[in-house]
Amino acid sequence: MMRTPLVVGNWKMNGRLADARALANAVVEQTAGFAAVERAVCPPFVHLPAVSETLAGTDVGLGAQNCADTPPGAHTGEVAAEMLSDLGVGYVILGHSERRQFDHEEEAGIAARYAQALEQGLRPILCVGESLEVREAGATDRLVADQITGVLDRLGAQGLGDGVIAYEPIWAIGTGLTATADQAQAVHASIRALLARHIGQAADKVRIIYGGSMKAANAQALLAQPDVDGGLIGGASLKAEEFAAICAAAARG
Ligand code: 13P
Repeated sequence: MMRTPLVVGNWKMNGRLADARALANAVVEQTAGFAAVERAVCPPFVHLPAVSETLAGTDVGLGAQNCADTPPGAHTGEVAAEMLSDLGVGYVILGHSERRQFDHEEEAGIAARYAQALEQGLRPILCVGESLEVREAGATDRLVADQITGVLDRLGAQGLGDGVIAYEPIWAIGTGLTATADQAQAVHASIRALLARHIGQAADKVRIIYGGSMKAANAQALLAQPDVDGGLIGGASLKAEEFAAICAAAARG
């Protein structure tokens, strides 16, 4: 297979500390049979140290849900990429639609966060995706391209080659509505074509993962698509069995 499938749990702002430890343990146990699938979980910042301990010595990776757009310094309430790196964090979700919507994150700032992540050796997972209005106006590909070129403009081609792109249609997040396999494949293929225009053959190595109400019941159809290389899972990642079933689907491809 050209690309190793990647399944990432985005726990968002859920769970108490004990829940985070228990869930991380259950993910390790229940996904142990899927070593061919790269797996990671992204707890809230404050649970990272505990989950990092739980995952030590396992092949389940650790991710954060954001990082600051500058090196350490005077920025109350932010967490610098190097602090994450100290905790054994390997991935960082950037530009999630919830942060774009509720925290007013925009392209330039997201690109700055992306640059910080790369500088500290973290693998950025750049989230892109359209609202229902944009989809209905037929402007999905253009919007997604703008979101990606926001990073390209700042970092150049190399930056994108080192990251992961998560296509997450906003209308499918937490709604129970999922993009059909064909809808997802069409956008993923258009993202890969955009990458190829900038980074040539290296585009074949970039994982483009899908997020938006992915669960055990619909994962297989989505993951069977040639350009859907994994999943970024919200709600279903809070149940280890569901998350494991998605990993199983990714292993089957
Ligand atoms: P849901 O799987 O809950 O729809 O969330 C998707 C998501 O936003 C992952 O980042």
